[in-house]
Amino acid sequence: MDQIVNVNEFQELAKRSLPKMYYDFYSGGAEDQHTLKENVEAFTRIMFRPRVLVDVSKIDMSTRILGYPISAPIMIAPTAMHMLAHPQGEIATAKAAAACNTIMIVSYMASCTIEEVASSCNAIRFLQIYVYKRRDVTAQMVKRAEKAGFKAIVMTVDVPKLGRREADIKNKMVSPQLRNFEGLISTKVLPSKGSGVEALAASTFDASLTWKDIEWLRSITKLPILVKGVLTREDALKAVEAGVDGIVVSNHGARQLDYSPATITVLEEVIVHVVGGRIPVLLDGGVRRGTDVFKALALGAQAVLIGRPVVYGLAAKGEDGVRKVIEMLKNELELTMALSGCPTIGDITRNHVRTENERLK
Ligand code: FNR
Repeated sequence: MDQIVNVNEFQELAKRSLPKMYYDFYSGGAEDQHTLKENVEAFTRIMFRPRVLVDVSKIDMSTRILGYPISAPIMIAPTAMHMLAHPQGEIATAKAAAACNTIMIVSYMASCTIEEVASSCNAIRFLQIYVYKRRDVTAQMVKRAEKAGFKAIVMTVDVPKLGRREADIKNKMVSPQLRNFEGLISTKVLPSKGSGVEALAASTFDASLTWKDIEWLRSITKLPILVKGVLTREDALKAVEAGVDGIVVSNHGARQLDYSPATITVLEEVIVHVVGGRIPVLLDGGVRRGTDVFKALALGAQAVLIGRPVVYGLAAKGEDGVRKVIEMLKNELELTMALSGCPTIGDITRNHVRTENERLK
């Protein structure tokens, strides 16, 4: 593993260690995969305005999200079915999160049960949910998460239907039985044609969900609620009005609506200005470098979430791989902060970056 110098290098390793069906499922995006490329490329169009002769002999990357202290503003995004990547599944990922002192958002579609993840280590955990047509099943998961010490619920709102992921259609991607739903819902789909994951989503996800359902979620839990999948100013405003505790600016890693904007391009004007500091704003999609993390913070995010690189690290090297992914990003962020003249997260300002629309400041 010493040979690996950046998180992108884990992708090739993951490709070599995974069956093609699973690698394609993890790496793929929707339709033309335009947004998949854009999520990464949009970061490359933002440049720095580094400040010099600032004492950066000590760098402190620590921050708080919903009051929970983490070592750096880099969290683990919810991604489905970690056991397809590694036999220890989400348990390995959670242990890496604990070792790195960060927050893991456990997917509703996790392979391990939420109780197994909770008892494996003391990582700070949030639970991501999809709202099923069978509300009782979703409500039960929320209750179980509360009991198992999860600290927040992240309601993903960008999947009324599953995006068209053509590799999964071609591969007839299999959906396994998820242990969390054992005895409640059969999630196993071995499709004779098309994607099993798409078929599962079509039969279980509630496409009639609206902003009113935040009230329903609020009525069944006291945990903070974040909504994940906001990309417009209209919806940012609705989220604030609905009284949520945080927003995740996300296009689902470009797996849902192709030609959705790259998340970093909508973060500032669309979301941060509308939210105006009232609630935390997190961002995911295409974050592959410490420089990307810095850019997201400079444009107003409190933290970023990492999706695919975590799964690639897990597939390649298990818990150690995930830990290495987070550590490499942290090291890169630390260096970026030093070279930009920012000893603490609070020192990172809008003036430390220049977007492509701005003339040389
Ligand atoms: C996801 N994502 C996701 N989101 C969610 O809310 N629930 C889920 O179960 C999943 N599952 C999932 C599986 C895989 C394989 C991927 C790649 C993504 C989306 C995820 O939380 C996040 O938004 C993106 O992965 C962020 O983009 P990057 O970091 O992968 O570019």
